[in-house]
Amino acid sequence: MLHEAANAAIKQTKLKRDKEEAQRLVQEGKERAELLLAEMNHRIANSLALVASLARMQASTVQDRGAQTALQEMQVRISAIAGVHRKLYTSSDVRFVELGSYMHGLIGEISTAVDLNGRYHFRINVDDDLKISTDKAVSLGVIVTELVTNAVKYAYPDGGGEINISIRSCGGDRCRLHVEDQGVGWTGEGAVQGTGLGTKITRAVACSLQASVIYEPAERGTRAVLEFNCKS
Ligand SMILES: Nc1ncnc2c1ncn2[C@@H]1O[C@H](COP(=O)(O)OP(=O)(O)O)[C@@H](O)[C@H]1O
Ligand SMILES: [Mg+2]
Repeated sequence: MLHEAANAAIKQTKLKRDKEEAQRLVQEGKERAELLLAEMNHRIANSLALVASLARMQASTVQDRGAQTALQEMQVRISAIAGVHRKLYTSSDVRFVELGSYMHGLIGEISTAVDLNGRYHFRINVDDDLKISTDKAVSLGVIVTELVTNAVKYAYPDGGGEINISIRSCGGDRCRLHVEDQGVGWTGEGAVQGTGLGTKITRAVACSLQASVIYEPAERGTRAVLEFNCKS
């Protein structure tokens, strides 16, 4: 009887030790995977930043104005995606991106790349603590890049002006992006001044958010709006 009880106690202790060991291994594996993911995002961000700076260098060597603009825009598009990965390796949860700080970084990059004389005043207004999934952040980054570059390129032909970017919750799981200027105005229709590539990119990317960019009537200038689901 005593022997049986002793055996059961030994078995219990062994089971407990095995369970603790298994839990330790799972925790170690999780920490290693998180570290690797952060390292991966760091590398992707750095590699993309390198590609962006190659595009910038190329832009500075070409004489043709059109080619120069195309390369500058390419640089900004690549930087927009690099920015998401940069945010991810400092984040505690790689599934989500904090939109406010991402947007401030992104607009900073755009202004450095395309607003060399500091003629534009960018105002950014993003709801506090608004987080969206990594995929959605990439899509939103690309769309904001196109809309803001357009405002810089076309809104104020005689000089600079104000460009407002806001992302606010509009109830439930819905969020609304606004990119506004007080320039010459664009309704989304009519003869384009440039290539129309930005519109194609925006349309395709917005589709992945199951949304589309619309141009709301504005008293002055252009008011581009995108409503999307920021949760699922
Ligand atoms: N904020 C804006 N203000 C004035 N015109 C704009 C604005 N945004 C877009 N446009 C017009 O829309 C056209 C299409 O833009 P887009 O598709 O991005 O192509 P691209 O930038 O290559 O010209 C531009 O050529 C321009 O005529
Ligand atoms: Mg464009």
